[in-house]
Amino acid sequence: MAKRERETAGWQLEQSAPEAYERYLVPAMFAPWAERLIDEVDLESDDRVLDVGCGTGIVARRVADRVGGAGTVVGLDINEKMLEVAETTAAESRLEVEWRHGDATDLPFSDGTFDVVLCQQALQFVTEPPTAFQEMHRVLSPGGRIAVSVWRPLEYNPGYVKLAKALESHVGDDAEAMMRSPFPEWNGDDLGTLARDAGFDKWSLTIEIGSMRYPSVEEFVRREAASSPLSEPLGNVESEVRETLVEEVRSALEDYTDDEGVVFPMESYFLVTQQ
Ligand SMILES: C[S@@+](CC[C@H](N)C(=O)[O-])C[C@H]1O[C@@H](n2cnc3c(N)ncnc32)[C@H](O)[C@@H]1O
Repeated sequence: MAKRERETAGWQLEQSAPEAYERYLVPAMFAPWAERLIDEVDLESDDRVLDVGCGTGIVARRVADRVGGAGTVVGLDINEKMLEVAETTAAESRLEVEWRHGDATDLPFSDGTFDVVLCQQALQFVTEPPTAFQEMHRVLSPGGRIAVSVWRPLEYNPGYVKLAKALESHVGDDAEAMMRSPFPEWNGDDLGTLARDAGFDKWSLTIEIGSMRYPSVEEFVRREAASSPLSEPLGNVESEVRETLVEEVRSALEDYTDDEGVVFPMESYFLVTQQ
């Protein structure tokens, strides 16, 4: 194996990005946030539930766990590779979820199909969020509930502020923009406007605070890179550049370092509607 290939493999690509997402980011971040989001909608055992932008399927799987066999659970995503991991992971746990390939802005379901629609950290990636919100409203039955989570802007998520800054300095503007993309510049009013324009009269908007922990800063950078489109730009830089980048993030996150590694707060909006 050539030197560059060996370095690249060691840094990131012992698995695909969706597999790394499921292995690293889901247990540490998306699973605990999924439980919190699901708690917001008071699930009934026979609810028909849609998980929009399901990724590798953690929300849909946790819902299936809770509703048992009586309800139905559908997970929809635009990315087939994420859906493949979703399908395998759910099958391993013998959970009944229907996985659908599709676009949040053109949901392949009739009006009023679902009692509950959940969307965890996906709305910010959709090309037309207002259309996606209208679609979620359309497929909801009368009296149905929607719960959506979206990270607050980058400045409320300090670990990622430092990582984005170091990426800008050492890898480039595109890598920095990739790191920013999960954290839209939306405030609570922007989310309320999306809900109102989609046809909802009542909703609650809360700021939810959690934390993210990694065993070390190097693992923070490595796992984030492996689990996202950052794997490409970071895999393509020399190992010295990556070492400098990790060193810079380590120093910037000193105040968030303890005996167990690195930990920092993460803030998200939760928007929960009622019809
Ligand atoms: C950060 S992941 C969140 C995945 C999952 N909800 C979770 O909590 O782990 C964002 C997901 O949104 C999906 N996505 C982006 N645009 C989409 C669209 N237009 N329609 C459906 N899914 C979309 C991506 O493919 C990705 O799987």
